[in-house]
Amino acid sequence: MQPQICIITGSTLGSAEYVGDHLSEILQQQGYATRVENRAELADVLNDKIWLIVTSTHGAGELPDNLRPFIWQIAQEKTDLSHLKFAVVGLGNSDYDTFCFAVDEVEKTLLKQGAQQVCPSLRIDVLTEFDHDQCAEEWLPNFTSQL
Ligand SMILES: Cc1cc2nc3c(=O)[nH]c(=O)nc-3n(C[C@H](O)[C@H](O)[C@H](O)COP(=O)(O)O)c2cc1C
Repeated sequence: MQPQICIITGSTLGSAEYVGDHLSEILQQQGYATRVENRAELADVLNDKIWLIVTSTHGAGELPDNLRPFIWQIAQEKTDLSHLKFAVVGLGNSDYDTFCFAVDEVEKTLLKQGAQQVCPSLRIDVLTEFDHDQCAEEWLPNFTSQL
């Protein structure tokens, strides 16, 4: 049986959420059990062993409002994540100097708490890539091959 994957999204206008939903569907077709959390609470996802985080970047390089408290709580409480494998998919716009900075912040925070990053993050540039689902789908084997 394939392991359960918890997909955690950070999104302002829904683009990252759509990508999260799409990846969830593809993963289910591949036999994985998935759960999508669009406003994750740490207590609800801490028992999961695999997180796939899909997040846009907002403000000036900031995490979206529905992901920021979650990531900050992990950093503040120094949550032990040594049981956890994770990967990150980012959406951003390369017109910003702070292109996909939310990805860097997620990586930095989870790694610091002992989680294992299973593959390099995907950073989708919405300025040049119009089919975000397709980009994420093409990247997905990088993630699943390491589970
Ligand atoms: C006000 C605003 C600020 C943004 N700031 C950044 C940024 O700092 N870095 C970046 O890479 N993209 C930035 N973006 C681009 C978004 O990340 C991109 O449009 C993304 O697709 C939004 O996805 P969402 O609807 O899931 O939030 C910004 C977009 C807006 C509207």
